[in-house]
Amino acid sequence: MMRRKLVAGNWKMFGSLARNEGLLNAVAAGAAGMPGVDCAVCVPFPYLAQAQQLLRGSRVAWGAQDVHQLDKGAYTGEVAAPMLCDFGCRYVIVGHSERRTLYGETSQLVAEKFAAARESGLVPILCVGETLAQRESGETETVAAEQLDAVIGLLGVQSLRDAVLAYEPVWAIGTGKTASPEQAQAVHAFIRRRVAGHDGQVARGLCILYGGSVKAANAAELFAMPDIDGGLIGGASLVADDFLAICNAGQN
Ligand code: PGA
Repeated sequence: MMRRKLVAGNWKMFGSLARNEGLLNAVAAGAAGMPGVDCAVCVPFPYLAQAQQLLRGSRVAWGAQDVHQLDKGAYTGEVAAPMLCDFGCRYVIVGHSERRTLYGETSQLVAEKFAAARESGLVPILCVGETLAQRESGETETVAAEQLDAVIGLLGVQSLRDAVLAYEPVWAIGTGKTASPEQAQAVHAFIRRRVAGHDGQVARGLCILYGGSVKAANAAELFAMPDIDGGLIGGASLVADDFLAICNAGQN
């Protein structure tokens, strides 16, 4: 099965209306010439309308970085999946390590958010990955398995059909330390094998992104690995030329 590559930006808590305009227009213009890769940007909630306005009709999809697990209710400050749909989102990141560590999101909660996204027709980008301490104590696979199994346990393996996973070693996020292509490939292959244990077809079709200090300079070697299907890009997604160079590296 030929999996299309996806390069998704995660803007985190960066941007302004004035700054975003140039960035979104440049990404849309650049992606127009890259039919061999799918591109997306996950922007802060207040900028979804701007992303929708500037990216509509382009080759670049957009999405959010988090979602509440319920579709409405008295939850001050939260945002529900149907609201993301109102703004044309295709994707939503769930379980980013910053949410897990800074906001105490458990794998169970992340699985519920994944469910909410699916129910609304959004494509969840489920992030998994170990800390440096966990890697050094040999727990890399255990951690990825636990984070993945929470979703499979709650929703079944079919919920991963057409979903996106992102392997993001916490020690590589925003640190400039990228996992080597071989290190990343090993975990991606482990994740795909684990899904294959439930359903081989779902596993073969599953898009597994790598995230953690992906740059124009290292993207091509990462994306060349057999189980790496693109990238989730933080810092480098805020600079149009850098992000587009990474998208270009993803062209099959
Ligand atoms: P980074 O972030 O590319 O800045 O390391 C990746 C992420 O957190 O998704």
